[in-house]
Amino acid sequence: MNRLYKTLMVLELAAALGAGLVGWTVTAQAAEAGTPAKPDVTRGQAIATQVCAACHGADGNSAGGAFPKLAGQHAEYIVKQLKDYKTQPGAKEPARKNAIMAGIAGALNDQDMVNVAAYFETQKAKPGYARDKNTVPVGQKIYRGGIADRGVPACAACHGATGMGVPVQYPRLSGQWSDYTAAQLTAFAQGTRNNSEPMHTIALRLNEAEVKAVADYIAGLH
Ligand code: HEC
Ligand code: HEC
Repeated sequence: MNRLYKTLMVLELAAALGAGLVGWTVTAQAAEAGTPAKPDVTRGQAIATQVCAACHGADGNSAGGAFPKLAGQHAEYIVKQLKDYKTQPGAKEPARKNAIMAGIAGALNDQDMVNVAAYFETQKAKPGYARDKNTVPVGQKIYRGGIADRGVPACAACHGATGMGVPVQYPRLSGQWSDYTAAQLTAFAQGTRNNSEPMHTIALRLNEAEVKAVADYIAGLH
């Protein structure tokens, strides 16, 4: 299957799922007013099953690196990303550009973002693994110690020694698909993901081989 065709299929799927979401939005209107109430994990699970599962897995463990694992990710981080995929009032474009997720996030109200994020946070992430043993030492060195002479800080300083992150502040990276992590580092460097000044600066200082090595090391973290 060629790449364009595959992309079109995914976009069609996203559109169909987006249409499904409209029903959810209507039934959620009672919760619409004001700041989000306490998360409703049961409702979050229903949204996950009907809307997110096709790509992220019903339990947030996606089937491959084209789609990030959401299982065990901090809820506040998930909510922030969903908002960043939407064009905010006054902005010309979303802080994080992705056609599929823009459609999905655009159809979710604030309360349902909180609900679905709370559900994925409660799910257990399946462990990942590094695919290339040869680059693990380089990846580990960058992750634990950074690259001092180029001003790259240790990833562990913020994301934690085992990649579990810190709720609210730093996302979990542990066990994530290496293709996805590498793609995000590239997006931070190029500015298609423009929602973190520190990550933009850090990613700009890594070359392609280093991105691959550290992403692959992260996949095996647990
Ligand atoms: C048609 C496929 C598809 C569906 C359905 C989908 N997503 Fe995504 N999602 C993606 C892709 C692709 C990405 C990576 C986009 C990027 O590179 O920024 C993504 C990224 C995300 C991220 C960012 C994760 C991170 O680690 O930063 C979150 C959060 C997310 N999706 C939540 C959801 C939720 C919640 C739903 C259901 C309401 C959903 N997605 C439905 C394809 C999908
Ligand atoms: C100063 C703290 C800090 C350091 C050091 C740091 N990060 Fe981050 N990182 C962040 C923050 C904050 C975010 C969340 C940005 C956002 O809101 O989207 C993030 C997000 C990420 C993401 C996106 C995760 C996802 O699920 O999409 C990746 C990948 C990442 N960092 C990798 C790294 C790597 C690799 C290193 C080391 C080379 C590193 N980070 C060092 C603070 C840091």
